[in-house]
This record gives sequence, structure tokens and C-alpha cells, in this order.
Amino acid sequence: MTERNGCSPSRALWASRMGFVLAAAGSAVGLGNIWKFPYITGANGGGAFVLVYLVCIAIVGLPIMMAELMIGRHTRRDAVGAFVLLEPKRRWWHSPGWISIAAAFIISSYYSVVAGWTIDYVFRATMGSFKGESAAAIEGMFAGLLADGGRQSFWHLIFMLLCMGVVVGGVQKGIERWSKILMPLLLVLLTLLLINGMLSSGARQGFVFMFRPDFAQLTPSSVLEAMGHAFFTLSLGMAAMITYGSYLNRDENLFGASIRVAFLDTMIALMAGLAIFPIVFSVGLEAGAGPGLIFQTIPVVFSQVPGGHVLSIMFFLLLAFAALSSNISLIEAQIAYFIDERCWSREKATLTIGALAFAVGIPTALSCNVMADITFIGERNFFDSVDLISSNYLLPIAGLLIALYVGWFWRGGAEKEELVAGGAPWVYPVWHWLIRYVSPLAVAIVLYFKIEEAGLWAWMVDLFGLGLFGGGV
Ligand code: PHE
Repeated sequence: MTERNGCSPSRALWASRMGFVLAAAGSAVGLGNIWKFPYITGANGGGAFVLVYLVCIAIVGLPIMMAELMIGRHTRRDAVGAFVLLEPKRRWWHSPGWISIAAAFIISSYYSVVAGWTIDYVFRATMGSFKGESAAAIEGMFAGLLADGGRQSFWHLIFMLLCMGVVVGGVQKGIERWSKILMPLLLVLLTLLLINGMLSSGARQGFVFMFRPDFAQLTPSSVLEAMGHAFFTLSLGMAAMITYGSYLNRDENLFGASIRVAFLDTMIALMAGLAIFPIVFSVGLEAGAGPGLIFQTIPVVFSQVPGGHVLSIMFFLLLAFAALSSNISLIEAQIAYFIDERCWSREKATLTIGALAFAVGIPTALSCNVMADITFIGERNFFDSVDLISSNYLLPIAGLLIALYVGWFWRGGAEKEELVAGGAPWVYPVWHWLIRYVSPLAVAIVLYFKIEEAGLWAWMVDLFGLGLFGGGV
């Protein structure tokens, strides 16, 4: 590959395979694993959902992750630059790069707000705010936080500054170094919480809930949810894996590295479920509590069990660490564009993107209070709208285009070289079949139903009508 411009004549690389695996797993392991996976498992009936999710990871998530990493490694560029380099003439193919970076920007803004909630809860747990309180009072604290835009913005700022502080250090001295600290810490905390769950009286029930498949509980929409989540949890379609792949050594076995990342991500999601459900059952609470499972049910549980004070601090720290390494990858994916394509310094890019993402996060922090009555898409407030656009549409669209490109349109056989280099020649035919047929079809189906489900067609018609007839509503 020739250098398209002179911005980065010598590209930063990960110092070791371990460094890459931990950084990429750090990106993948996030609120999606510890917050979302347990609650959607709870809401979709447990075991059968877990099984479908595992299949989705294997046949859709893993092949697309490999595709993203190989695009990055082959071009040694950010997500937009990668497609520009691959397709200088067919400009249409630059779109997955732009869509992914747009998704990264939107997600980093609201992800940081939710991550801010976790810091708020670390703080509350440390201060002993849950101790001796009634369940209703503890549940009310979450509503109180959502009603407080200033408090949310404050923690959002702190969290964004932490991310910027890591990213500005660069690939090896910032991201890799911190991933090597945060990921092991996360594993230790999670293991302790898992042991605690396994020793609790709800252990058996939790185990059965997660692993005994009851297919009667599985609805078509659970399958869609499992697929969508496989995407989100592996950080696909948002430029993160392309960017992290671009720092990957040429002789690294791409398949081996991807398997490790997907395995760690899946293992941590399952561990989180096994840490959470047993204790929820042990105090007789509901597993299907929805998004409030983490911020409402869990503090209630910890207020009732021995050692709950320390456990709750550990739990929310775990969430905050997981969120930090994920948001770092989102910020890195964006600043790589400015460094590679616009020749900006890392400092300038970090400051600009951090400030912008912070600013765009503010309306999210205000979504449930000052701006609660302002709706954007349909009846959704700002937060729900940006979440809907990015995770329901931009990610699958980018993923679909990437799968189609790599499976059908990438010329010159570089994708084969990328996979075969570093070993595992047998992987190529299997992967190629999946990325050509299975992954794009699966993502297209999800996308179709998401659009249908959200009534988005109707919304577009409305919007169109508004434009055409001068806003008669
Ligand atoms: N994969 C992360 C999670 O499971 C989410 C994430 C989204 C990470 C976007 C990076 C980029 O929470």
C-alpha cells in the first residue's frame, strides 16, 4: 500500500499481541456486557436467548470483526482513510467509513453520559448512600439522578476528561498501557463478584436461568435483539475495530486475535450474568427488570446482603472501568481520522473531539429533565433518538456495507492474504462463505425489522410531507 498523504509516515503499532487483545477486548467489553446483556437476557427469558446470542457472535459478529480488522491492518488508516485508499475511484464505497465514524461520534457522546452514571454510583456506594435505605428509596435515587441534568453533566465531563487523558497518550503509552491495567482489574473485580454470586442462595436458580434453554420463551424479536446486541457488544460498525486493526502487526494471526477478543467479550458477559442473577434471585427480586436492573435492582440487592457495601463499590467500579476502555476506542476511532487524513496533532484532535462529544452529550444528560418534553424521532427524547439512530441503524448499515464490500467487492485478493498470513489457511473458506452470505443476510434482516418496528417509514413520510407542504402540522 502506498502512503496517500504524508501525515503518518511511520504508523504507531501495538507493542505486543497481548496489548492488542486487551485493548480490543477493552473496547468490546463495556456497558453492553455488564449492563445490557444481563437485562436483555432477563427480559427475553434466559437460556434460549443466551444460546441464540452465542450463535450470532459466531456467525455474524466474528466474521465482521475479522473483516474490520483486516481493512484496518491492510490500509494502516483510520476508517474513512481506509476506504479512500482501497477505493480511490468508487467513491460510493467511502460511505461505510463515514457512517462508522459518525456512529462513533454519536455513541461516544451519550455513552459518556451513561458512564457518568456509573461514576456517580461508585461515589454513592463509597459514601454508603444505599445502606439502610428502603428499596423504594434506593430505586428513587436513580430517578433523582435522571432528573438532575447538572449532576449528570458533571460526571459526563469527568468521564470524558478521563478518556481524553488516556487517548492523548497515544497508542502504546496511552491506550495499550491503560488497557493492560484496566482489563485485569476488571477481571479480578468480576471474578470476586462471580464467586459471591455462586456462594449465594440464588446460585442454582441463576445458573438454571442462564443456561437451561426454554425455547417457548424465545420470540422472533428476541432473535433480532440477540443479533443487534452481538454487533454492539463487539464494537462493530463504529470504526473502532478498523482503527485498532490498523495498529496491528502484519504477522499477527488475525483469526487467532479475533477469537481471543470475541471469547473474552462473551466470557465477561456470561460472568456478569452469573454474578448478577443469583444475587437478584437470592433476595427474591425479578430478573426481567429491564434497564433499571443495574441502577435500581442491584443497589437494592447490595443493601440487603452481608458485605454489600464493598460489593457495591466493586460492582460500579467494574462498570466504570468497562465503560472507560470502550469509550477510549470510540474517541480513538474519531481522532485517528484527523491525525491520518487532516494531519492534526494527537493533542489537537483529542481536545477537539473530546470537547465536541462532551457538548453533544449535554442534551442527552438533559433528556430526562429540562428537555424531557422535547421529542425528536417519534415520541422519543434526545437520548432515545440518538441511541436509536446510531445503534439501531448506523451500526448495522455500516456492518452490512463492510460485509458486502469485503465479501464481494474487495479486489485483488488482499483479504485472503490478510487471513492466511500468520497461519490458519483453513479459516479462509469458512470465513469467506460466512462474510459473503450469512453475515450480510442476517444483518439485512435485522435492519429491515428495526426499520419496520420503529415505524421509521411513517416518520420519513411525515418529514417529507413537512418539507413538501411547508410544515402544515
Ligand atoms: N462494545 C461496547 C459495549 O459492549 C460498546 C461500544 C460501543 C464500544 C461503541 C465501543 C464502541 O458496551
